[in-house]
Amino acid sequence: MKKNMNLPKQIEFDEAASQLLKKLETENKRIRDFFIRSYKGLPTSPEMEEETYNYFIRHSLFAVAIITSPSSSVITEFFYGGLPLSFPIDKYVFQSKSGKAVRARLNTVERELPKIIEKYRSKGDVLIGNLGSGPGRDVINVFSTHYRDISNVRAIHIDKDISSLKKGRRIATIKGIDHMINFAEGNFLKYKTTKKFDIILLIGVLCSLKSEICIYLLKKIKSLLKRNGCLLVSNVSKKMLEEDPFTYFLMEKIGNWKLVFKDEKELEQIYKKAGYNWEGYFTDSYGFHILGKGTPRFYF
Ligand SMILES: C[S@@+](CC[C@H](N)C(=O)[O-])C[C@H]1O[C@@H](n2cnc3c(N)ncnc32)[C@H](O)[C@@H]1O
Repeated sequence: MKKNMNLPKQIEFDEAASQLLKKLETENKRIRDFFIRSYKGLPTSPEMEEETYNYFIRHSLFAVAIITSPSSSVITEFFYGGLPLSFPIDKYVFQSKSGKAVRARLNTVERELPKIIEKYRSKGDVLIGNLGSGPGRDVINVFSTHYRDISNVRAIHIDKDISSLKKGRRIATIKGIDHMINFAEGNFLKYKTTKKFDIILLIGVLCSLKSEICIYLLKKIKSLLKRNGCLLVSNVSKKMLEEDPFTYFLMEKIGNWKLVFKDEKELEQIYKKAGYNWEGYFTDSYGFHILGKGTPRFYF
């Protein structure tokens, strides 16, 4: 396996990673030694890589999810606490700083979205497009907490993964707000509508994409947004790699799940090159995700 040049040289393990390695030492010392060698950038054999891969498949729901459906909402649902945590590897990933930061991102969207909604609601009805929504817990939670009895706020959740939309509809029904959300299966890049959105959310969708692809994507979805509409986009920041390199190492080594970490300047450039005015950003409480805000500059 190729040595990963993106990873920092440091070899310290934080408390959570040390606990996991200790656990692995009692269960399978070969796997634990492989991880330490590999993390240090020392040579490893293809036989050990194969053994480790198979071990992960047998001992981690998270590993199976990133191997079989990278960038899917099964991963975000895992982080939000929607899957059982019976394996030590899964417990580690869930409790890691990166895992906590995904939950913090959800909390941040739930805190900031009502402020944006209120800005548009002062002018009339508000329609939200949740693109790549997965189940769309962010909007579901905001609606059930703040807009339960409000008739002029609605959302459309668009995702190519029908199972995630079915899950979203179930959660919305349980919370009694399913009448406020439509669930549309399909590629949001091909979505056609005559009713444009006041607010578009693109959360957890760009993280594995290069900047040029993000620019293309933001250009494409501009026609779905109203002239003064708001585009809210998240991307994983470089701080995650600096502060929690071991969790990313696990994801990349086992799941071959590569993220494209971007800072706020890069996200700003993506907005500007795609024809949006940059209206600033905020982060989750760990600073592991940048959430940018912008309005369309060129309109067509
Ligand atoms: C990591 S999940 C994030 C889900 C949710 N936005 C959240 O923050 O929890 C990314 C989602 O984007 C969806 N997705 C990515 N590209 C898409 C596209 N072009 N059209 C529709 N869905 C897309 C995937 O199916 C997946 O459900």
